[in-house]
Order: sequence, then structure tokens, then C-alpha cells
Amino acid sequence: MQEYGLFIDGVWSTTGEKISVLNKATGEEIARISAAGAAEVTKAVDAAEQAFKTGKLEPYRRYEILLKASRLLRQNQTKMAEFLTQEVGKPIKEALAEVARAEQTLILSAEEAKRLTGEMVPLAGAPGCENRWAFTLRQPVGIVCAITPFNFPLNLACHKLGPAIAAGNTVVYKPATATPLSAVLLCEIFAEAGLPAGHLNLLTGAGGKLGQLLTAEERIGFYSFTGSPAVGKDLLRNAGFRRVALELGSNSANIVHNDTDIPAAAGLCAQYAFANAGQVCISCQRVYVQRRVYSEFCDQAVAYTRKLVMGDPLDPATDIGPMISGQEAARAETWVQAAVARGARLLTGGNRRGAWFEPTILTDVDATMSIVCQEAFAPVFSIIPYDTIEEAIAMVNDSVYGLQAGVFTGSLEIARLCALKLETGGVIINDGATFRTDNMPYGGIKESGIGREGPQYAVKEMTEEKLVVFKF
Ligand code: SIN
Repeated sequence: MQEYGLFIDGVWSTTGEKISVLNKATGEEIARISAAGAAEVTKAVDAAEQAFKTGKLEPYRRYEILLKASRLLRQNQTKMAEFLTQEVGKPIKEALAEVARAEQTLILSAEEAKRLTGEMVPLAGAPGCENRWAFTLRQPVGIVCAITPFNFPLNLACHKLGPAIAAGNTVVYKPATATPLSAVLLCEIFAEAGLPAGHLNLLTGAGGKLGQLLTAEERIGFYSFTGSPAVGKDLLRNAGFRRVALELGSNSANIVHNDTDIPAAAGLCAQYAFANAGQVCISCQRVYVQRRVYSEFCDQAVAYTRKLVMGDPLDPATDIGPMISGQEAARAETWVQAAVARGARLLTGGNRRGAWFEPTILTDVDATMSIVCQEAFAPVFSIIPYDTIEEAIAMVNDSVYGLQAGVFTGSLEIARLCALKLETGGVIINDGATFRTDNMPYGGIKESGIGREGPQYAVKEMTEEKLVVFKF
């Protein structure tokens, strides 16, 4: 049985307490990983603090290291993708796509290391400042704590580690309990890329306990967290004056108007709903379809869905693998059954076998059902008819979340109205809410979180803008 340890101050070490890592498709134990406790948290933060104080890396060095890490990631893509498929359960084609995205995220981060800059402040624009010059500097916040989720364990880690390193910070990294293997390989890659000891420290272990130890560590200057709103709110409460970036999920919606290509929109919505077994923060969960094209949309979405292949995630032909656990799949099943008991209609799917949940489409739902108003994080979406675009916008906005929304329309006026009125961090016209490329600003409003990811935006969040005024 392969055993993996913690990476602290450039050294791999183990602890007495171990956590099993399961293959999510077979349930087999594939590795054991050390669980960090209070002593290891202190050691990791000591190392990060020391590296920050004494091991400053100039921007060109950060660039070189991040670029080298991206190349090493490509060289290790097969091993990394297999880790992802086993520990998440995601189909190998999606795992390979995640590795390719992560490589780009590191390249984008490397580029930010070179261009991170403050700005001149035109003080003389106000009377009395003629004899002063001012500019700002962007300085690293210190220690960044990266807490990453199970659904994209690699790319979402790169979205935190990449900008943190690019901005000159040091990092304490805690991956999701269920998916630590990709984190181990990523740390090996950074070490091989030349990142000095202490700049990146890996702590694995049981999420809740380790999370509490990390939030209590006052020397951490910034928390970058992707996960549930409940944990995000706790983190925010504990952070005090320290800074946070929180990406907390959504029940993302798409609007499909009657002036668009319905088969194409239906296929894309289904594809976006079932990618990674629906375990995506911007998964297509609610689709509002104009009533004239509602039946056609339902038929097309069902036809697309029935062609999807559910099976062994290591098989390149597989479209849908298991969810992260049987417990999570059972939770999704309960929500679907509760909706059906209250009058919702299953258009397809609805069955579960262990962690495997069939791709499922519901209709005749109402806005108070858990499967509609909470984050489903499962391969399920609901189709809901509307008459006017104003009504559709109001239904999309009737949510505690606001991450991204998609709008399919041939009308510039409808696109403009949706771009202005939808209460989300991003509005995607003529593509689904699930669209994301790694250089765009990504983040939400309401309970979807605070702050924006995307290396260009994250480096700003992970730095302090300091004003310097010269009087002469
Ligand atoms: C997420 O689930 O938050 C990330 C989605 C993505 O990066 O595509």
C-alpha cells in the first residue's frame, strides 16, 4: 500500500495518524496519507513564515519556477490524470482536460509575476500637492492558506498556489480530505521546479479539524477557500482583519430563449449539467426555457442525456463516473425523491447504485424544492418554462447564490437586458453558466462568495497596495 506524507519546509514526513484514500469507482483503498495535527500546522506555518522573511524570490525567479512547474505538469500529465480519475472518480478525458487547464493556470500565474505593479497617483490633481509625487507598490500579504475542494483538486489548487507564489507569498496548502494524491504530486512538481523549502507546505488530514487549526493560526495573512457556504462563513467570522477569497458554489441557471438553436442549447445544458457528475460550482442546475420551445428543449435534452455513457472512469469512452461518495449520491437521491413526492416529474434518470447516480432531468419543479434552491452538486438539472424574459430573469435571481448565469438568445436586446439585470458574478451569452476559461475573473456575489479568481485578479487580492508619497 502506497503511503504519502506531509511536505513541510522542503521535507516529506509522516505522522502516526493515517487516512485512507479510496478509488471512488471501486471503493478500494489505493493509498494512505498522513493526517496533520496541531504540531504539524505550527511547523508548516513556522516554515512559511521563515521562508517569507528570509527567502524572498525576485519576480523573474517566481516566473521561472511557475513556468517550469507548468512544463513538469505536462510531462506528468498521465500520472496526474490517473490520480485525478481514481481519487475524484472523474472520467479520464475530463481528468486530462483538468491537467491541461492547470498547466495554463500556472503559465498565466507565471506571467503575472512579471507584470505585477502598482500605479502612479496623480496627486497634483488636488490643490496643495504640487510638490509631491505618489505611487503605489503591490506587496505580498505574507502567508497564504490555500484550502481546496475535491471536484477540481488540481486546477483549483493551481488557481490558489500559482497567484500566491507569483505575488511573492509563501503557502500552506490543505487539499480536500478525499483527494490528496494530486496535491502530493503537485508539491513534488513545485519542488523539482526549484521552489525553495518553506515556500509551499502541504498539510493533509481530516477537513474539519485541520481547517479549524488553520483558521486559528493568526500568522496566516490570507485564506483562499473553495467549498461550502457554511465553512466559508466560519472562515470569514474567524478571519477578523485578515483577508479572504471565498468561492462557495451556486445553483447556477441558464435562460434559453425561443430565438436560439434549441437542439444545440439542450445538448450543451445537459453536457454542462453532467460534467464531473454535476460536482461543479457552476454546473447547469436550473434551465429556464421560453414556453414556445419548452417541449422541444425537454425532448432534445433527454435524447442527449440517454446517449451518455456511465461506466469505468478510466475508460476513455466514459462520460459519467461516480460521485465523490455513496453518502453524497444518497443525499442527491433524497432531494430528487422529495421533489418527486411534491409533484416534480422525472424526464430521465433518478436511480442510484452506491456512489453512481444516473444523469437526471426533472421538470414541474418549484422554487422551494431543495434540488432547485440549494446547490445540488450532483448530476441533476431541472427544466422550468417561462413566458417573458423579465419573468426568467426574476426566477434566476430568486436564489441565495450568484456565481454565473448563461443566456442563449439571438436577440441583442435580450442579451443586454440579461447582462445588466442578472445578479451573478458573470453572465455568459450564448454559452452556459458552466463556461470557464482560466484567465477570466471568476467568483460570485451573495452566498457564492467574495473575491475573484483568475491569476490576474487573484494576485491583486493576495497583495497589499501600499502608497508611497515623495515630498520634494
Ligand atoms: C468550480 O467548481 O468552482 C470550478 C469550475 C471550473 O473551474 O470549471
